[in-house]
Amino acid sequence: MPTIPAHAIGGVITGWGTALPSKIVTNDDLSKTMETSDEWIRERTGIHRRHIGGSTAELSVESGRIAMAMAGVSPDQIDALVLSTTTPDRQVPATSATVQNLLGLKCGAFDINAACSGFVYGLVVAHGLIAMGSKKVLLIGTDTLSRITDWTDRNTAILFADGSGAAVIEATTGPTQLLGWDLDADGSAEELLYAEIGGNIHMDGKEVFRRAVRIMVDSAQKSMQIAGVTAKDIALIVPHQANTRIISAACDRLGIPMERTSTVLHETGNTSSASIPLALFDAADGGPMSGRTLHEGDLVLVVGFGAGMTAASAVLRWNGKGLRA
Ligand code: COA
Repeated sequence: MPTIPAHAIGGVITGWGTALPSKIVTNDDLSKTMETSDEWIRERTGIHRRHIGGSTAELSVESGRIAMAMAGVSPDQIDALVLSTTTPDRQVPATSATVQNLLGLKCGAFDINAACSGFVYGLVVAHGLIAMGSKKVLLIGTDTLSRITDWTDRNTAILFADGSGAAVIEATTGPTQLLGWDLDADGSAEELLYAEIGGNIHMDGKEVFRRAVRIMVDSAQKSMQIAGVTAKDIALIVPHQANTRIISAACDRLGIPMERTSTVLHETGNTSSASIPLALFDAADGGPMSGRTLHEGDLVLVVGFGAGMTAASAVLRWNGKGLRA
């Protein structure tokens, strides 16, 4: 388990933004085209509605622009763009190249794909770039899962949706925001959740559910141990927004009550790379969807899981617009 070297240059989130397509698909809408019901979907997943539409580049540009405006940084000041996505617009080039151009950035840009754990992977990568001398990194998590969902398959169509969340992370002269992190993957489980190139998502929902709880808890405990904190110190947990029952089971095992959990999936469905930033920045914005509010100094635990099967977590000290380098 890597610990963060005491002398490493740290990072702080100085701006954030989110984007959701305007088209809303409710559970009732789905029940018109497949054998399901609003009641079943709410009870088994916690999802009420989801947003569908747009390309990965379009949503990324929208959230990225908002994050840069909030941070007060111009496109030419960004040193690197990291785009987490499992639904790139093209096979080649990486969608980050398209986004880099549309945002007018003058820096390196690359995609990372760690499925629904991707934003947390990106968070760690961004802090690594800062430790190596980058001053300002734009991290975006975007997925347009609706494009790889079989809309006749009630096993998956009820879950997946589109969205984006972005953060400007800047080098800081003050204490770093990232206190502990953990990245994990188990490729032996890849058949549980996959899409062939050009194909749709296939999923063994029951087995994914079972493993998700275990790997989220494992990863979260590692990050907390590295950060030197325990569950009682965590003011807010921001889990991957896949299923309320998964979140509730994981929080239960971690000893973190649901009142300290940010969930937005009732409004968003599972948006993969966008899921954690949507729930995190909702709380940072005072909780219009989650009803949770982040306060200066709060300890936040972000924890994701996804295809691969990946898991990733991090403990952050929320210092909002902390000191820039
Ligand atoms: N609407 C109505 N009924 C449905 C249904 C739907 N959309 N999907 C399944 N059912 C039925 C089943 O046929 C079954 O009926 P039966 O009891 O008569 O056989 C019953 O509901 C229970 O099905 P089951 O598959 O056991 O449901 P579940 O409680 O496991 O819930 C998931 C299914 C997919 C919601 C759940 O397994 C899950 O969320 N898994 C994790 C998926 C995930 O998070 N993936 C993304 C990872 S990043």
